Amino acid sequence: MKTTHIRLIILLMMSSNLILAQKPSIIPEPAIWENKRGNFSFSGNTDLFVPKGDDQMMSNANFLKMYLERIPNVNIQIRYYQQGQDLPARGIVLAVDPRSNTPERYVMGVTSRRILITGDDFRGVFYGIQSLRQLLPAELEQPALASQLRNVRVSNIYIEDYPRFPYRGMHLDVARHFFDVDFIKKYIDLMVLHKMNTFHWHLTEDQGWRIEIKKYPLLTEIGAWRKETLIGHGGRPPFEYDGKRYGGYYTQDDVREIVAYAADRHITVIPEIEMPGHATAALAAYPHLGCTGGPYEVITRWGVFEDVFCAGNDDVFEFLENVLLEVIELFPSQYIHIGGDECPKTRWKECPKCQARIQEEGLADEYELQSYFIRRIEKFLLSKGRNIIGWDEILEGGLAPEATVMSWRGVRGGIEAAQMGHDVIMTPTSHCYFDYYQADPESQPLGIGGYLPLSRVYEFNPNPLDLTEEQAKHILGGQGNVWTEYMKTSDHVEYMAYPRAIALAEVLWTPNRKHDFDDFTQRLNHHFKRLDALGVNYFRE
Ligand code: ACM
Ligand code: ZN
Repeated sequence: MKTTHIRLIILLMMSSNLILAQKPSIIPEPAIWENKRGNFSFSGNTDLFVPKGDDQMMSNANFLKMYLERIPNVNIQIRYYQQGQDLPARGIVLAVDPRSNTPERYVMGVTSRRILITGDDFRGVFYGIQSLRQLLPAELEQPALASQLRNVRVSNIYIEDYPRFPYRGMHLDVARHFFDVDFIKKYIDLMVLHKMNTFHWHLTEDQGWRIEIKKYPLLTEIGAWRKETLIGHGGRPPFEYDGKRYGGYYTQDDVREIVAYAADRHITVIPEIEMPGHATAALAAYPHLGCTGGPYEVITRWGVFEDVFCAGNDDVFEFLENVLLEVIELFPSQYIHIGGDECPKTRWKECPKCQARIQEEGLADEYELQSYFIRRIEKFLLSKGRNIIGWDEILEGGLAPEATVMSWRGVRGGIEAAQMGHDVIMTPTSHCYFDYYQADPESQPLGIGGYLPLSRVYEFNPNPLDLTEEQAKHILGGQGNVWTEYMKTSDHVEYMAYPRAIALAEVLWTPNRKHDFDDFTQRLNHHFKRLDALGVNYFRE
């Protein structure tokens, strides 16, 4: 009796402690956090200290200043302190201390006098700022709402945090449907909020070429436009079309603007230029690059199409190298994505040039011809100091020596590549295809098919157990893919990507041992208010 009673008291004490120690609602969940008593209050003039002479830190400081100055009557003064001397004792202090040498790591201490964010690098500081942001009222996301805030404070806390994986990506297909520069920036902003760091920009397809290439103006004059678009699902003929010309593209100025915007927010933009397949829009512009010589039309429905770049024609390589020269001028990313997926071999089997290439190069078949194609492009990009990423079909016929594999048809291709010592990004359809339905299709706008609810995204493990520790180091991370055949509007893209992208962000950032779907959904319910303030058209069950 007595012991039961004591147990009950202990239980009550524990539960009241839990209530007192209100859990910070940060997504992705930080590796380590501990609440402290008291709070830091924002009012009047607040100093924001940055190390003198550190330009990279200034963009972090400006991001935070812009955000905090939405609080009525708060003015942020940026001040400098001398590196190596004692840190300022009051205000907000940004610092870098690389001693633990963990890229993107940060430590944040909020006390009543000071908010100190110390990153292992300036990216870490930026992620500390994102965590601080999530501790502040959601109204701050929207200047009109923020103007009504009074007495903004943040509870004292200590956080130590670092990413589980270095590559945390979101992909967007802007070829099946086109999305303007403002939306791309919003897409990037949402990645930033969840500590994602790589934007994979799928720029070319059968249904549209979306990037201006100065040397080949027809790519956008012709290739960026299709005469109409399929209505309804693409899987079953007869097909019906809307009769409306559709298209658009990014000028090189647009691209520079987006790449710079992303870089300011510590996001790398990886461009994808598809080859040898998914290339009909390019062939429509320059028909001599196909095996039959055309004529070709920009494709108006969805699927995999048989006209691909001719692998036997040296003009094709000259063309692609010239395109890639302009692409690498625009994108500082170490990686260039060259596609490589879903390339039918039908035309190559019939093409005298392709067959002659197979003979000359002593290749066994058309799969080895695909491998020849990718290796030749890799060799070119390596000579320019860049590396290729390709979808897992680049394993067929032999993997290019330095290639990184993006494993989408499950994780098997990724495992195989990691076992061969290649780097891998996991993006299997089973967990990462946000074009799949997230609820009963009857209740949803038309989609491509499949079923991928939020809970399954959260179960994703990019690091399959069959790898040794050494092989597992090649798994750089994961990525959510948003193919837009059935997404005509940016609202629909948001609806499909969110909140699933947030679950993926936590999978990729938070240590595995801390993954807890119930806890995640509780934080997510709180987080929806922030997405509302940001005007995100997310799906809610
Ligand atoms: C892909 O989904 N075809 C990479
Ligand atoms: Zn050919």
